[in-house]
Amino acid sequence: MLSGQGNYFLLSTAHTSMLLFCADGRAEYRYFGELVRDTAGAELLAPEWEGRTLLPCSPWGSTDFREPSLLIRHADGSVASRFVLTGAEIAPRVLPAGLPHACGGGDCLRLTYRDEAAKLVLCLQLMPLEACDAIVSSAWLKNEGEYAVEIERIASLQLELWGKDFSFTTFDGAWGSERQRHTRPLALGKCENASYAGSSSAFHNPFVMLTRPGETYACNLIYSGNHRETAEADDTGRTRLIAGINPFGFSWRVEPGETFYTPEAVLVYAQSPAEASARMRNFVMTHIIPPRWADCERPVLVNNWEGTYFSFTRDKILSIAARARDVGAELFVLDDGWFGRRDDDTSSLGDWKDYAAKTGGIASLADEVRAMGLQFGIWVEPEMISEDSDLYRAHPDYTMRVPFRKPLTMRNQLMLNLADVRVQDYLFEAISNVIQTVKAAYVKWDYNRYMTDCFDAVTRGGEYCHRYILGLYALLARLTERFPGVLFEGCASGGGRFDLGVLFYMPQIWTSDNTDARERIRIQAGTACAYPQSSMGAHVSASPNEQTGNRNSLYARFSVACGGVLGYESDLTAASEAELSEISAQIAYYKRHRRTLQLGEYTPLGDAFGDDWSGYLVRAADGSEAIAVVCLHEKHTEVFNRRARFAGLEDGARYRVYRVEKDGGEQLLTEADGDLLNRASVSLGGIFGETDVRENSNPLYVRMYRFERIGR
Ligand code: DGJ
Repeated sequence: MLSGQGNYFLLSTAHTSMLLFCADGRAEYRYFGELVRDTAGAELLAPEWEGRTLLPCSPWGSTDFREPSLLIRHADGSVASRFVLTGAEIAPRVLPAGLPHACGGGDCLRLTYRDEAAKLVLCLQLMPLEACDAIVSSAWLKNEGEYAVEIERIASLQLELWGKDFSFTTFDGAWGSERQRHTRPLALGKCENASYAGSSSAFHNPFVMLTRPGETYACNLIYSGNHRETAEADDTGRTRLIAGINPFGFSWRVEPGETFYTPEAVLVYAQSPAEASARMRNFVMTHIIPPRWADCERPVLVNNWEGTYFSFTRDKILSIAARARDVGAELFVLDDGWFGRRDDDTSSLGDWKDYAAKTGGIASLADEVRAMGLQFGIWVEPEMISEDSDLYRAHPDYTMRVPFRKPLTMRNQLMLNLADVRVQDYLFEAISNVIQTVKAAYVKWDYNRYMTDCFDAVTRGGEYCHRYILGLYALLARLTERFPGVLFEGCASGGGRFDLGVLFYMPQIWTSDNTDARERIRIQAGTACAYPQSSMGAHVSASPNEQTGNRNSLYARFSVACGGVLGYESDLTAASEAELSEISAQIAYYKRHRRTLQLGEYTPLGDAFGDDWSGYLVRAADGSEAIAVVCLHEKHTEVFNRRARFAGLEDGARYRVYRVEKDGGEQLLTEADGDLLNRASVSLGGIFGETDVRENSNPLYVRMYRFERIGR
């Protein structure tokens, strides 16, 4: 809800409110927190003096010397701007041209500023989303002058808060260790969370939180490229959060009459980090995931990558697919190695044509898989090109490169120049052709390197990285529009591009190449702080684990993978009869409870980054059941009395409590009330004995429970 009362504008969602004061040429935040219904008495919230306000934007060129939200280089080279608020109104929201955005929503508060000397108009818009307690923020800059200007930075969001006692939480990592949560006090300084790698990156996810006891402000960017979030506390007692495109290396020329739109940012307030995360997940489900997929149960897949890597034959693929069918999977995904002359990672990217000598004919292979009763899915890595490829030989000019320099390879590959419409057109045709040839039900869209040599001969250098991302979005928009029934899964060497921009087109993303259950539980816990479980691809893979060498029971691997969209990724033809029957039981169990697991309300248990135990609980939307997984990270000898606490069950409801067994059966433990289960600490007695520690080195100790509601 949005209302204007005199000089005040109140933006309210179901549980939160933001209050802005707009007068005298400027706008100020006066309040952001729990729901308030009226602005009466708001003059009490005024700052001590005019120079100490809480601002929604801070163009460089004033006496504010903190991190600026806007920096413009004018035609004469100067960078000072003087923007004065000329309008504050409730207006229809303007969508950011060419960018993914929050779907739905209504009007916004539009703040219009003008730099009279330069004839520039800056608009900020803040749109409250009632049901999921989120506010969407963006900006645009229009040049109404006679000379071009260069935007050197422009934030999607600037939030300012009273207080200098916040901590800053970020989700950082690398390949195989994505989205590890880190929290540090801001003290009187500035913290940066940013990507310089061309994509949102595994190094620093764009999701951040400012926290202090009882208050959390969380922000994410609907963007897949270089991003930067800064949090800065000053000694006058204010904290500033800025989020947007990373200004490093960025500049964008705005010609007279042109407008530049920032990506959208989403902001939530909550009383705790856990509540902020729940609101973010809700926002993603309601406003980011393509509506066709948001409420749709996702298939259980089998992927051949870790089972075969590049070395497969048609027979091998068909025998894995046959096993996939036997255990009850629904989708078979043929991963890397089916195209060009691709026998390793040194060739063929760009040649999206059947490697018939290896596949025996990709179309008929797909038909045979379908004849088994499985859907067929396929891997592609469209943004890349191998030097050893027909595409490169024909079109070296399609490559991202700096003239007269040899571009750097990573994983032996170069990148295509998606800023070039010719390349977008080529990929649209090539990938459409793949999808049509194999009648794909699913496409895994991989991206296995970061960007270097970010340049082409026609694009202005400072614009390149953003133009690349705009090109990627244009391509994804065309493909997903042409193939609305195809389930796209994003991937980037695992979870190296896990962001809201990707999720706008592809409803799920491969969370990490690290499938070791004891590492995955943390990676998924970090990811779930901002993203719903239905967006996280999660596979059961072989033991010992291919990445870490750790052994884990099939039960542990399955229980952890149930925290996302379940798949299996190993050579199922090498599995024993006992393993196959356990996998069949797992898949049957998962399918019975899939709606709850994939689409239920997710609550983290314990603290994957702090406690020595963690897990998750998912509760069906109708409350009829819940499933919990509890994991002990370490076993210490002579430490007994291990315990866990549930959360997320319905207070006042009575449940039958079952322990889920590895054969898919359930053992009734007791009946208990949600109140007790949510509050008391539960014994995990006997959990070590349930895992064979001699068979499994450094294992995760796991137990799965199901709660069946039997009354209130
Ligand atoms: C990286 C992905 O994360 C893997 O799952 C697999 O698809 C490989 N690329 C294939 O090259």
